[in-house]
Amino acid sequence: MLDTLRSVLQFRKFQLDPVERRLAKAANVADLRRIARRRLPRGVFDYIDGAAEDERTLAANCDAFAGYGFKPRVLRDVGVVDTSATLLGKPLRYPLVLAPTGFTRIADPQGELAVARAATRAGLPYTLSTLSTRSIEEVAAASGEGRRWFQVYAWRDRGLVKEMIERAAAAGYEAIMPTVDTAVLGRRERDVRRGFSLPPKIGLGTLLDGAVHPAWTWQFVRSEPIVFATIATSGAAAGRDGSTAVGLAEFTAQQFDPGLSWADIEWMRSVWNGPLVLKGIQTVADAEIAAKEGIEVIALSNHGGRQLDDAPAVIDLVAPVADAVGSTAEIICDGGIRRGSDIVKAIALGATACMAGRAYLYALGAAGERGVDFVLQLLADDMRRTMALVGARTVGDVTSEFVERSTVRA
Ligand SMILES: Cc1cc2nc3c(=O)[nH]c(=O)nc-3n(C[C@H](O)[C@H](O)[C@H](O)COP(=O)(O)O)c2cc1C
Repeated sequence: MLDTLRSVLQFRKFQLDPVERRLAKAANVADLRRIARRRLPRGVFDYIDGAAEDERTLAANCDAFAGYGFKPRVLRDVGVVDTSATLLGKPLRYPLVLAPTGFTRIADPQGELAVARAATRAGLPYTLSTLSTRSIEEVAAASGEGRRWFQVYAWRDRGLVKEMIERAAAAGYEAIMPTVDTAVLGRRERDVRRGFSLPPKIGLGTLLDGAVHPAWTWQFVRSEPIVFATIATSGAAAGRDGSTAVGLAEFTAQQFDPGLSWADIEWMRSVWNGPLVLKGIQTVADAEIAAKEGIEVIALSNHGGRQLDDAPAVIDLVAPVADAVGSTAEIICDGGIRRGSDIVKAIALGATACMAGRAYLYALGAAGERGVDFVLQLLADDMRRTMALVGARTVGDVTSEFVERSTVRA
């Protein structure tokens, strides 16, 4: 009887390492999100997870992928599937770039260093945000031989912008990425409700929240203070220590220049000797101007739904923009990437690559640097499996032949 029971009962080996234990329970990005939600204080999780106003664009970015179905081909010998691609003439292990995210250290004390190291290991470019909590030079050292890009916000003080661009050039960054959807900051209502400030203020609410998230709190109090490291070392108006201790909306209203125009992009070209990735294009009309201006890479993006609510879902822009300017510029689909199959769809519709923010932030919050390794491998495996199942051996094979608009949207 006991023998019979033993033969049918199989327990999973108990994992002593708590990080491995957590990751063993994650089958996809949604699981990593759930784990991050449990581990991070609510204000921190909401800063990462939240978006503008009713968050319809955030939802649409993800949901719109369900609006495209596959048309799988069979009997195509997919014994060997190669996910590698090129972007700006250089290789990617699979067509993904890690998007810039400000204040990454609130998810994990290593912050941008952890993400940059993981990106290098995965063979993918990492983009450092202007609002980073590790400096341009620290991240360059951490990313080593890896590809790194630098995201640029238009500070009112153009001298500061020039100085940061020069530092990025000196530190071996390959491309700059002006973000152009942030003339003013979107209203992120979860942050408004929580009175979320950067750095997080330690008030009674934070203390209470910290008490129920002891692992995060313990790491937070033990590590050096979180500051805007890149701006601090450029001596910005934030104060030399880079601390703002105000709401992000107030801070960006003081510092960002809503007067940004195409002339400024031309100016950036004049102070940067390399390719430009323009992030935040949301219409065919603007993509056409960008292509005419000689922009090398157009990143279709609505900032992950954090700026203008009811901006269009990014995946829906890919085909029309690729039709209009795909022969002149490379195209990145940035927003809503949660699975490797999303990447396959974007490529089939005409994107050169995709970009993801929250996917790696959830992983970082859930399991630190190993979490980021895990999610980048998960997306690569997902993509390889999807390619095999649709009958594509190489990324070059992934064409519009494989997708169609679904009649039923999930
Ligand atoms: C917490 C967080 C911080 C972000 N910070 C920046 C930033 O500093 N600069 C920028 O250009 N985009 C920023 N973004 C937008 C991302 O670069 C990217 O466009 C977005 O995350 C894509 O959507 P996804 O999260 O669905 O992948 C941020 C996004 C998140 C979630």
